[in-house]
Amino acid sequence: MTDSQGATPAGGGVRSWVLGGSRRIAGSLRIPGDKSISHRALILGALAHGETEVRGWLRGADCRATLTALAALGVPVSETGEALRIAGGGPEALQEPPDVLDAGNSGTTLRLLAGVLAGRPFFSVLTGDASLRRRPMRRVVEPLSAMGATLWGRAGGRFPPLAIRGGALSGIRWRSPVASAQVKSLILLAGLQAQGETLVSEPVLSRDHTERMLAAFGGRVRREGTAVRIAGGQQLRATRLTVPGDLSSAAFFLTAAAVRPGGEVAARGVGVNPTRSGILGVLERMGAEVRCEGMRQEAGEEVADVIVRGRRLRGTDIGAAEIPALVDEIPILAVAGMLADGETRIKGAGELRVKEVDRLAALEGEFGKLGAAIRAEGDCLVIQGGRPLKGTEVSSRGDHRMAMSLAVAGLFAAGETTVHGVECVETSFPGFASALCDAAPDCLLREVVMSDA
Ligand code: S3P
Repeated sequence: MTDSQGATPAGGGVRSWVLGGSRRIAGSLRIPGDKSISHRALILGALAHGETEVRGWLRGADCRATLTALAALGVPVSETGEALRIAGGGPEALQEPPDVLDAGNSGTTLRLLAGVLAGRPFFSVLTGDASLRRRPMRRVVEPLSAMGATLWGRAGGRFPPLAIRGGALSGIRWRSPVASAQVKSLILLAGLQAQGETLVSEPVLSRDHTERMLAAFGGRVRREGTAVRIAGGQQLRATRLTVPGDLSSAAFFLTAAAVRPGGEVAARGVGVNPTRSGILGVLERMGAEVRCEGMRQEAGEEVADVIVRGRRLRGTDIGAAEIPALVDEIPILAVAGMLADGETRIKGAGELRVKEVDRLAALEGEFGKLGAAIRAEGDCLVIQGGRPLKGTEVSSRGDHRMAMSLAVAGLFAAGETTVHGVECVETSFPGFASALCDAAPDCLLREVVMSDA
């Protein structure tokens, strides 16, 4: 067992964070690149013609899995300093991979690549870690099969691994029963390679990064309400872009500041695309002061410095129509609810049951251990705020957003909190522990590594 303060020790093994409460939360932070936008920049760079240069992309395990898969499909990629260069030759330049493609923990990698591979006339297999192999894939298999690809998956196509024999696709009209950007995006990526037009609609608009990034690569997509239309056979042109900081990562610090009266955090250069920034409206509604300064555009996305000042917060209701714009922030918003006065109710959050873990069950189980009054019922989460939190041992259950949310809750708990299984944080936020030490130095976070041996 080894100890280290803040920094991430090298090597494998099961890692835990031990931290205490913090009286002061303050700082000005640069947040790593947006995960969703990074995946799309890499994939569209590979599908475009010419050399695409991407700066500021997230060098976390999830996006690395996308990059490694693209390299296995024969796409030349090179990294020099900040810049990643992708030599795209259009979809037709992709080659049959010599081995199974491993998406690791990343649902976005697996699902978006399935959309790409459905259009390619060769055999490929996509798999992932134990968590990803439990996540639903009918939503992938059904539309791609309807377009003309042949897909097989475990349990009759319900789970990965997915085997794909792609080929001549036809455009479809697809009504997705879930608001899912991954589903919408994989259909658009297949639609780009299909004969004719593809239209995909969803019950509520999900994040629209794919649509915006297609436009940045010279593609034509048309939004009509919650539907998107794309014509097949378009050629994308290489471009240069800088990925904005990830608001979903900034959210941990912004929320920590929001719930601490007198706390203040500025997250510089983060994406505030309205289909992603629902958390800011919720924190404001709960009583925090939220400001976006220096609004600008990067990679077709709105970017700003987001500044949050803490006040005593009150509970709120979050309805089903709001969920897509804050779906990844529910774990940290649950922390805000626990520390606010009164009740917070989050409704229509059933998609959380099929994330990296069943997040509703994980929130009830792990935050319950800290003394929170939090109940998951069906697709709802109900939190009675204002209960004092007491430090104890909790587990990420292998979910990066659970790990980071539990660490933030630890800042507000009495005594010491130990979060086990924090190695998963590498998927989306390498450097989170150091950033937390900067924003809340008196929490005295240390990382403990249990060796694998
Ligand atoms: C993502 C979409 C969301 C989100 C995930 C990233 C994306 O998933 O939860 O972290 O990049 O498209 P769903 O499409 O399953 O809602």
